Amino acid sequence: MPSYYVERLKINFKTLEEFKQFRDYGLAELSMLEDLEANLIENNSESPFYGIYLYGRLAARMCLYHIDAKYDRYFSPPQEYLELWKLEVLAPYQKQGLGSALVSYAKQFGLPIKTNARNRSAQFWEKMGFQPVRYSPERDRGESPYVWLPENVSLLDEENKEK
Ligand SMILES: CC(C)(COP(=O)(O)OP(=O)(O)OC[C@H]1O[C@@H](n2cnc3c(N)ncnc32)[C@H](O)[C@@H]1OP(=O)(O)O)[C@@H](O)C(=O)NCCC(=O)NCCS
Repeated sequence: MPSYYVERLKINFKTLEEFKQFRDYGLAELSMLEDLEANLIENNSESPFYGIYLYGRLAARMCLYHIDAKYDRYFSPPQEYLELWKLEVLAPYQKQGLGSALVSYAKQFGLPIKTNARNRSAQFWEKMGFQPVRYSPERDRGESPYVWLPENVSLLDEENKEK
């Protein structure tokens, strides 16, 4: 598998134009566009998106949000973690290792990661070393949460089960 260069994406009109190629283009991107147009954020501001360019085209992207420990309801002990969403590889570039490259990049932060396995992607997440979390309707609200645990971190659910 070739190694890919993952970079943090800048918020600018060019990046937002590239985002339109992705299926999961929605409110998050539109609100960035509005903020840029209203000069609420600067052109070239840092974004929570990371991506891989191939031949000058944004071929894959993901969004990573740092969630503060006080909002953690997944891990034990409660701690800061990463919410990974909007992972998407454009169709012509799928199954060439780009998705795994982005997920490996996210793991390098050494924080637990939580994602929502959409579009029947559970098998992909399991290959990436993620595990499903016991569904809690009140906490997970229709999501299919999968998590990745670094060393010395366990799941809150597992601890509660033992009590
Ligand atoms: C799911 C997705 C992110 C995977 O990225 P990718 O670059 O195609 O995946 P990779 O090439 O890194 O594949 C890594 C492994 O996962 C497997 N895999 C890839 N997509 C899969 C899927 N949808 N279901 C099951 N396994 C999958 C690959 O076969 C590969 O297995 P191997 O190591 O045994 O060969 C990508 O296909 C995609 O964007 N799909 C559309 C959007 C989507 O479903 N997003 C889900 C994230 S919530």
